[in-house]
Amino acid sequence: MTGATGPSRTSRSRSTGRGAQSDALAAVLAAVPFACAAFDRRSGALVAANPRFSTDLGALPGHGQRDALLASLYGDLTGEARGEEVRAPHSGRWYALHWRDLDCGGQALSLLTAVDISERIETLDSHKSQQEKLLFTSRMMSVGEMAATLAHELNQPLAAIVNYLNGSLRLVGQAGGPVQVERALQAARTQAEHASAVIARVREFVRAREPRRDAQELPLIVDTVLELLRLEAERQQLRVELALPASLPPVYADRVMIEQVLLNLVKNAIEAMREVPAAQRGLRIEARVNLDDEIEVRVCDRGPGLSPAQSEQLFSPFYTTKSDGLGIGLAICRSIIEYHEGRLFFEARDGGGSVFGFTLPTPDRRI
Ligand SMILES: Nc1ncnc2c1ncn2[C@@H]1O[C@H](COP(=O)(O)OP(=O)(O)O)[C@@H](O)[C@H]1O
Ligand SMILES: [Mg+2]
Repeated sequence: MTGATGPSRTSRSRSTGRGAQSDALAAVLAAVPFACAAFDRRSGALVAANPRFSTDLGALPGHGQRDALLASLYGDLTGEARGEEVRAPHSGRWYALHWRDLDCGGQALSLLTAVDISERIETLDSHKSQQEKLLFTSRMMSVGEMAATLAHELNQPLAAIVNYLNGSLRLVGQAGGPVQVERALQAARTQAEHASAVIARVREFVRAREPRRDAQELPLIVDTVLELLRLEAERQQLRVELALPASLPPVYADRVMIEQVLLNLVKNAIEAMREVPAAQRGLRIEARVNLDDEIEVRVCDRGPGLSPAQSEQLFSPFYTTKSDGLGIGLAICRSIIEYHEGRLFFEARDGGGSVFGFTLPTPDRRI
């Protein structure tokens, strides 16, 4: 670091005094525990700097000139600025900048101190993401409460509908027909009973309870989910292909939670194929032991798949492309799978469509 450069009006006449002054300035700056530098107020040239300045900001382009240094720090493209708090583009560290005017031996200086505040910024940022998580949880809880209320409200009328249908069936039976009416009533009862079963499961899921993990047979979970979605699948004339090896070890999981995950994924797959011609619709559920000795479950559809932009947002809560969607299905799936020390993933399916999958530990590999 050199002293004042270039001939200024006063520098020649008082050069000896200036030398002593700049030595004193350098000594003072060296004692400051922050990055500190003095610039000539008029020309902006660097006059003196302490070692901390050199290590922290000395690598920045233009650090020897005030305006060039500021341009580097606040630069539109690279420097992310928060008022007097700037992020140094070369190191990614945050600094609080303070400027003070200082007259030193007749020279007008601008003194810059740059205090490294990266730790405070990091704490703030992690606090913020903590807050966001909390907000998400509380939203999720209100969705859960909503589901519980709905389930409760629907349960009563559904039970009444089943009762009325049973009564009607008895009356039609006693009157001896007509048989078409009897069949229609039976079909209606099957649907109502199914709706009750779904609601019972929602209530079971929503009811506040600690997850209970133990050894679970995956094929039984798949059966339950397919049973819940049977009507939907029939309506769509959907071929469901299962590839679950008989030798598949059990998974270490909370059964209802994993049913919920699979239900969400299969539902999404079915919904993705709504617009696809019936002949092309094909759902495949497969499972295998992967290279990490985890159980990997994959739900494969022949829907339109996802653009890279879409797949980035996929797991953010409340992201949906459906007019009747809530956009929380995949977010719930992810938190459930992560709770199980597994991984939820997406990939494009060979020949078109998407694959949504997850991994789960086996009972002997649990952490
Ligand atoms: N199998 C799939 N194929 C194509 N897009 C999908 C599939 N599964 C999910 N998506 C996309 O991800 C979004 C979020 O899904 P999800 O969280 O389950 O919420 P929702 O189903 O309520 O929209 C969907 O709206 C859809 O755009
Ligand atoms: Mg969904």
